[in-house]
Amino acid sequence: MMFTTPIMTLISFIVSFFTMVSALPVSVRDVYVPPVTYPTAGTVWHIGQNYNVTWDTSDPPVNITNKYGMIVLAKGGIALDYDSPLAANFSILDGTHEITVPNVDPGDDYAIVLFGDSGNYSPEFTITN
Ligand SMILES: *[C@@H]1O[C@H](CO)[C@@H](O)[C@H](O)[C@H]1NC(C)=O
Ligand SMILES: *[C@@H]1O[C@H](CO)[C@@H](O)[C@H](O)[C@H]1NC(C)=O
Ligand SMILES: *[C@@H]1O[C@H](CO)[C@@H](O)[C@H](O)[C@H]1NC(C)=O
Repeated sequence: MMFTTPIMTLISFIVSFFTMVSALPVSVRDVYVPPVTYPTAGTVWHIGQNYNVTWDTSDPPVNITNKYGMIVLAKGGIALDYDSPLAANFSILDGTHEITVPNVDPGDDYAIVLFGDSGNYSPEFTITN
């Protein structure tokens, strides 16, 4: 599911702008935002446990603008902390990356945001103790 409130669009624009700048030089750029396939709606994560976030890499463009991925936790549709992502600096072509659930308030409106060129939101799922 993709949320496109103006704030998030702005945030992901800013983030993708900076990641784009750091990914120089490339002559031809393709925006690549693979869909998150896990977690899904109905997923329940436990604080302190490890899980593999997965995404669909079946259709990457030839020239990827930014091949480094970053995973950020979001709550209520708002990405939480870009300065301390759950994971960063992995290849966006990996299709999977293991994360540890941080010590956050339990809730049923969490989502994972996978950043490549832009941000792609997973469905909302639950984090519990
Ligand atoms: C990918 O980039 C290379 C080198 O810049 C370029 O020659 C090629 O045409 C690009 N391919 C596509 C599909 O954009
Ligand atoms: C995540 O995937 C890797 C590679 O397949 C595997 O070794 C690891 O055990 C998985 N972690 C979890 C928490 O399932
Ligand atoms: C990613 O790599 C950059 C540059 O090497 C480094 O400054 C940054 O701390 C790394 N981020 C993470 C989450 O490992």
